[in-house]
Amino acid sequence: MAPTPRRTQVGIIGAGPAGLFLAHLLHRQGIESVIIESRGRAEIEGTIRAGVLEQWTVDLMNGMGLGARMMREAHFHSGITLRFNGESHHIDMEELTGGKRVTVYAQHEVIRDLVAARLEDGGKIRFGVRDVRLLDLDGDTPLIAYRTAEGEEVLLRCDYVAGCDGFHGPSRQAIPASARTEYQKIYPFGWLGILTEAPPSHPELIYARHDRGFALLSTRSPEIQRLYIQCDPQDDIANWSDDRIWAELHTRLETRDGWRLTEGPVFQKGIIAMRSFVCDPMQHGRLFLAGDAAHIVPPTGAKGLNLAVADVLVLSRALAAFYREGRRDLLAGYSATCLRRIWKAERFSWYMTTMLHRNEQETPFEQRIRLADLDYVVHSRAAATALAENYVGLPIE
Ligand code: FAD
Ligand code: DHB
Repeated sequence: MAPTPRRTQVGIIGAGPAGLFLAHLLHRQGIESVIIESRGRAEIEGTIRAGVLEQWTVDLMNGMGLGARMMREAHFHSGITLRFNGESHHIDMEELTGGKRVTVYAQHEVIRDLVAARLEDGGKIRFGVRDVRLLDLDGDTPLIAYRTAEGEEVLLRCDYVAGCDGFHGPSRQAIPASARTEYQKIYPFGWLGILTEAPPSHPELIYARHDRGFALLSTRSPEIQRLYIQCDPQDDIANWSDDRIWAELHTRLETRDGWRLTEGPVFQKGIIAMRSFVCDPMQHGRLFLAGDAAHIVPPTGAKGLNLAVADVLVLSRALAAFYREGRRDLLAGYSATCLRRIWKAERFSWYMTTMLHRNEQETPFEQRIRLADLDYVVHSRAAATALAENYVGLPIE
């Protein structure tokens, strides 16, 4: 016998940054939601991903009363350092953008704060669900069917479904292929990321372009640092001993004026591939995609998490207008509103990636153009301002 459907206003698939922020934003508007998540709580709170928050994301967390631990534990930098040709150049974001800073606070810390606060508010997050299916998206009351961690079959009837289930989730695939256009670029390189137990080597993030490839120095705490190097996306992490990783990091990051990197024991390492991807439109019937479910950026601009939050801010406002005033125009315009900003973040992430990585497929001419671009950014206030205003986050409509 089919189970009796349960009921909520907004069914949210995925407890990543998009799904969790959306549940909080809706709760503040008196709108009920249920999040269903295929992984367990410990797993989503332990997965190492992005590190940088845009200024408005920080302001939003504080405005929602979710920022107390972030304000105690995050690292606030006035800018970033760009390195190439063995030289260092400081881009002072705070000065160039009228006071906006770079906040380094890891994605899994944001997730921990949002899950704890949601559960404290009595919010519903179903962890460890399986076999998620989206049904009746064209009707007035779409259904999410799933199996609980204990194996019980559940039907959840909703007014709207938010597909916040990342790039590999089922939501985007629920839009007929004929009703969406996908834009994609795959890069011929990936990032090898490590966590190391070492003191900070530098007071702010360093993005370095070197003949051997890109490198990035970031931080997590006074005891733990996060570093990345460009590598072959197909490479096996077993080919990278700690000694080999450190040798590359020293070569790519160190400067002619004697700056040296501090080493420590490596306790986590992995390789990620890089792509740019956009799905247009980001909605179909009563389904709205948000975050990585709809778009991917290469990580060089530190935009992925922030874009996910921007989408659900727009979506929560549109849903609030529907429930408060019966307005459907903001929901109808959701995808177009989001995509205007998303394409600018796609452009910026592509620009940072191509400018800073070594690409064997590029001609020597193109490689010299990348260096000219870097030289221009660090010597022109106008170019540095353009980089800074994108890095700290463009305004949300
Ligand atoms: P996600 O965080 O992917 O959340 C989606 C959630 O949906 C997940 O919890 C998933 O378990 C759940 N889900 C999936 N399928 C189902 C299903 N069938 N049913 C129920 N739930 C489901 N960005 C940066 O800016 N800098 C970085 O260094 C960086 N590193 C990254 C490293 C990796 C390995 C990855 C994958 C991404 C990285 N990103 C980085 C991107 C950034 O983490 C994402 O942009 C961000 O997580 C997007 O948030 P989201 O909520 O849209 O999606
Ligand atoms: C980190 C990740 C990024 O993609 C980036 O551009 C800067 C920092 C990080 O993980 O700390």
